[in-house]
Amino acid sequence: MELYLDTANLEHIDSVNKLGFLDGVTTNPTILSKEERPPFDLIQEIDRKLSGKIWYQVTGSTADEAVEEAIKVANMCHNKVVIKFPFTLENLEGIRRISQKGIETNATLVYSIPQAIFAAKAGSTYISPYLGRIDDAGGSSIQFINDVKQAYENLGFDTKIIGASIRNAQHLVDLSKNGIDALTISYGNFEKMLHNTMTDAGMEQFQEDWDKIKNL
Ligand code: E4P
Repeated sequence: MELYLDTANLEHIDSVNKLGFLDGVTTNPTILSKEERPPFDLIQEIDRKLSGKIWYQVTGSTADEAVEEAIKVANMCHNKVVIKFPFTLENLEGIRRISQKGIETNATLVYSIPQAIFAAKAGSTYISPYLGRIDDAGGSSIQFINDVKQAYENLGFDTKIIGASIRNAQHLVDLSKNGIDALTISYGNFEKMLHNTMTDAGMEQFQEDWDKIKNL
């Protein structure tokens, strides 16, 4: 399973990247806007810092604009980039054209089986359903992931699914039971999921007991 950090915050990237198991970072306009920096400068700084895939979401409204933007970002990074295309008709053409150049692509904001099928047909390397938002809308994110996996298996597509909008540990539990190709998780949720009250209590007890003997 590929694991990505859903952030453009350099400190957060550093703190997780040093663990050595990050496959890269995912960004989008909302994530980049949080850092209040020129976006392409920030992408290049992340590229210098990281050894992994950098996911960048195009903002162009036509296929030509999106393709030009995608090539610009791919050329500015030493790392492999994954170009994210919000699911639109224009962007299906962008996905095909960029995929044909050997640059990995991701159809994002995919919420239906038809969208998942057409993204795969356009040659998208990944699709990224937003699990939290599916659940927020009263749907079942895990059911949708399973439906997409079954559709891809039955129809012979090798497009990978990256789970996004991961909100809680239950999402990880459910995805681990069902299987997922990749996950992207925010720094806040990553930190939150690291902690367990029983682990913390056990650590306190170890420290207490060690303090009793460490100076004997
Ligand atoms: C993914 O690329 C998004 O940044 C993120 O997963 C959205 O999560 P949210 O629905 O909690 O905003």
